[in-house]
Amino acid sequence: MDTIINNVYGTWRAEKNWKTPTFVDKVEGVYMYDENGDKYIDFSSQLMCSNLGHGNKALIDGIKKQAEKAAYIAPGFADETKATATEALLKIVPEGLENFFYSTSGTEANEAAVKAARLFFEDEGKFKIISRYHSYHGATTTSVTLTGDPRRWWAERVKNTVPGIRHAPDPYCYRCPFDKEYPDCDVQCARYYKYMIEEEGNVAGILFEPIVGTNGKIVPPDEYYPILREICDEHDVLMIDDEVMAGGYRTGKPFAIDHWDVKPDMMTMAKGITGAYTPLGATATTQEIRDYFEENVFCHGHTYAGHPLCLSGVAPAIKEYEKLFNTNKPQEVAEYLKERLYELGENHISVGDVRGKGHFWGLELVKNRETKEPFDVKSDKFRKTLMTDKVAAEAMKNGVYVVNWYDHLAITPPLTITKEEVDDAIEALDEALEISDKKAEKTDTPVSKSSDGIIH
Ligand SMILES: Cc1ncc(COP(=O)(O)O)c(C=O)c1O
Repeated sequence: MDTIINNVYGTWRAEKNWKTPTFVDKVEGVYMYDENGDKYIDFSSQLMCSNLGHGNKALIDGIKKQAEKAAYIAPGFADETKATATEALLKIVPEGLENFFYSTSGTEANEAAVKAARLFFEDEGKFKIISRYHSYHGATTTSVTLTGDPRRWWAERVKNTVPGIRHAPDPYCYRCPFDKEYPDCDVQCARYYKYMIEEEGNVAGILFEPIVGTNGKIVPPDEYYPILREICDEHDVLMIDDEVMAGGYRTGKPFAIDHWDVKPDMMTMAKGITGAYTPLGATATTQEIRDYFEENVFCHGHTYAGHPLCLSGVAPAIKEYEKLFNTNKPQEVAEYLKERLYELGENHISVGDVRGKGHFWGLELVKNRETKEPFDVKSDKFRKTLMTDKVAAEAMKNGVYVVNWYDHLAITPPLTITKEEVDDAIEALDEALEISDKKAEKTDTPVSKSSDGIIH
């Protein structure tokens, strides 16, 4: 353990804050176990990626088989995993997405998407990309510039960002940036892109998380993506859908954009497409974009682009998702999870808003439900111990691992979780939320449930 603490970097933290990480000794189903044999429910699927739980035999066998056959083949060659992974993905991506570039992370998938979009519009000189404030798109220079959360601020401080990226207001109905209410707002947050594109000029793409992940589990109103599609079409701007976290069946459909039946021009994927059994990133494009690169150089690549071991996770994972959804169990548990989370929110005065879809939920904590005064704000991240840190630490003590951001808890369990396991996790959270309740003010305002834009 000492070698880990002293010789390995913990991520996104001052290293002094990584002195006592839990040592994970074993993982199985929705559980992880530490070196003392203590058991924790993985209520966040590690980093919202172990969507099929731990120890899935079909996946392990598929990866083993590939390791024995060929652990590595250079990107310039064709091989069977490239074909089987691509065939499996073609069956689930929205119609019109037909070509894939493979990498090893969500970050790389987004870097590739942005470079491809800029190359595609090179002759017209269109290079700007609009993303959103409540977003995370990755850790390297372009993807962290796309990011709206404080990780970009840190990158900006050391000038480690790229030009040409702008941020748009979010479809965040619980705290509308336009101070309006749905539906009277006429979905201003979507319409504002038109203004941005026309005022900015040279916009090549709009990149977004269809349901915001790390930065809030924010679900836009139903009109949002159809409006965005229309604006992109009118202005010849590419619609780039970052499904790294919300994809991989997490919201009950292969990809979150499927809830609105809108077809993006590019899609980026990672995490859930292999259930995190192998590290894979994928950037999908339309045939029109691929056609452009028939003559023009797609000047991009990695040693591990199309790594057979990474790709070997795709086909078995998709098969496992289909099998699982055919039992109807994840659909039933998702409904049950929603009800239990609403109930949890109703019972705790420090829960301001409960929102999400499928197995993708957030509990936003507030000091006061009526004023929506938060415990902590964006600029507090990385600077102090947050209320959500305290609640998550207490949940861990109670045997439940839950990821937290500065304003909310991420309730994103594996899709294999049962109702009984949900009950156990909710019981632990129920206790943990006493910590924030003690610091919250009692009001008559009920908990908000903003999953469809409407504050119920
Ligand atoms: C929406 C989104 N895009 C991109 C990324 C970056 O993916 P990775 O951490 O695999 O580089 C993440 C990671 O959480 C994400 O949630």
